[in-house]
Amino acid sequence: MAFAQRVFSGMQPTGNLHLGNYLGALVNWVKMQDTHDCVYCVVDMHAITMWQDPAALKSAIREVTAAYLAAGLDPKKSIVFNQSKVAEHAELAWVFNCVARLGWLNRMTQFKEKAGKDRENASVGLYAYPCLMAADILLYRATHVPVGEDQKQHLELTRDVAQKFNNDFRPQIEAAGFADGFFPMTEPVIQGPATRVMSLRDGSKKMSKSDASDYARINLTDDADAIAQKVRKAKTDPEPLPSEPKGLEGRSEAENLVGIYAALSERSVEAVLAEFGGGQFSTFKNALADLAVAKLAPLNADMRRLLADPGFVDGVLKDGAERARVIAAETMNHVKDIVGLLR
Ligand code: TYM
Repeated sequence: MAFAQRVFSGMQPTGNLHLGNYLGALVNWVKMQDTHDCVYCVVDMHAITMWQDPAALKSAIREVTAAYLAAGLDPKKSIVFNQSKVAEHAELAWVFNCVARLGWLNRMTQFKEKAGKDRENASVGLYAYPCLMAADILLYRATHVPVGEDQKQHLELTRDVAQKFNNDFRPQIEAAGFADGFFPMTEPVIQGPATRVMSLRDGSKKMSKSDASDYARINLTDDADAIAQKVRKAKTDPEPLPSEPKGLEGRSEAENLVGIYAALSERSVEAVLAEFGGGQFSTFKNALADLAVAKLAPLNADMRRLLADPGFVDGVLKDGAERARVIAAETMNHVKDIVGLLR
């Protein structure tokens, strides 16, 4: 039996979403709604792997939901909910904590980056985070996960967990009628010209919520003036733009801005360079600022409108969680039977 195609993805409600989240992930999520059965989650339990101000966390969960909807997720087509409402995420994560090996988690680069030098003081949750992420995905037996490039390693671990589970319990899984294994080998979907949007201040660093400088990123909540100012102040080099992609090699800041333009305008990097190559950066930056404002201002306005009606946003999450729970409970029942837990 082949696995039914299903998409799962999520974002952490820790501060503002930015252009990297939008172009690297959200744009693809919206597109996949037309072709797949999709589940989109606000992963609030991942957020608390590092301390969050409780009041700010509650607002951030609603803000991220509003950003999802403003970007074009349709809660009638897709399931949109916050993770902590569906207790099976934590339940399956525990089973996966018992499947994954310490050696696998020790290799996770995100843990090393986030824990920094003071590893002894990092939470156990931060360390086990990839098992919770595998549970998010596999609870829905999702076959496709649209993400930015930085999530690649976590998705490899998800496949490792699925494979080990399928092997460790092969007789029970076959007896339950799952001839191809219980969990699918999930495919990452990392596509488009902006799978890794870089900081506007330093082309060697990824655009991130945690960058100390707000000028490093464009937030989805920035107004038109802030967006235009950040684009104009973005770091560049003194050379004019090349006419072909090859000329962007070794010019990370220029490459980043051209990639952003291509993604926002839904054109190829080649087409963007054919138009702007040979010209001054200032001309290109003005065009990019106008484009970014034109694309993001309506999203921003929609987010504000949605946030003015928290009852609506909460209703979407409640309804989404109810629908998610139906799938999650079915998976968890099978997992319990397979592993040998009484239910
Ligand atoms: P998070 O919240 O850090 O990021 C959400 C999504 O945005 C993408 N992204 C970027 N893409 C391009 N350029 C950037 N600079 C950039 N920064 C972030 C991320 O790749 C991601 O797709 N562990 C995940 C959340 C998660 C998850 C899941 C994702 C938890 N469970 C299950 C998929 C499936 C995270 O921290 O993403």
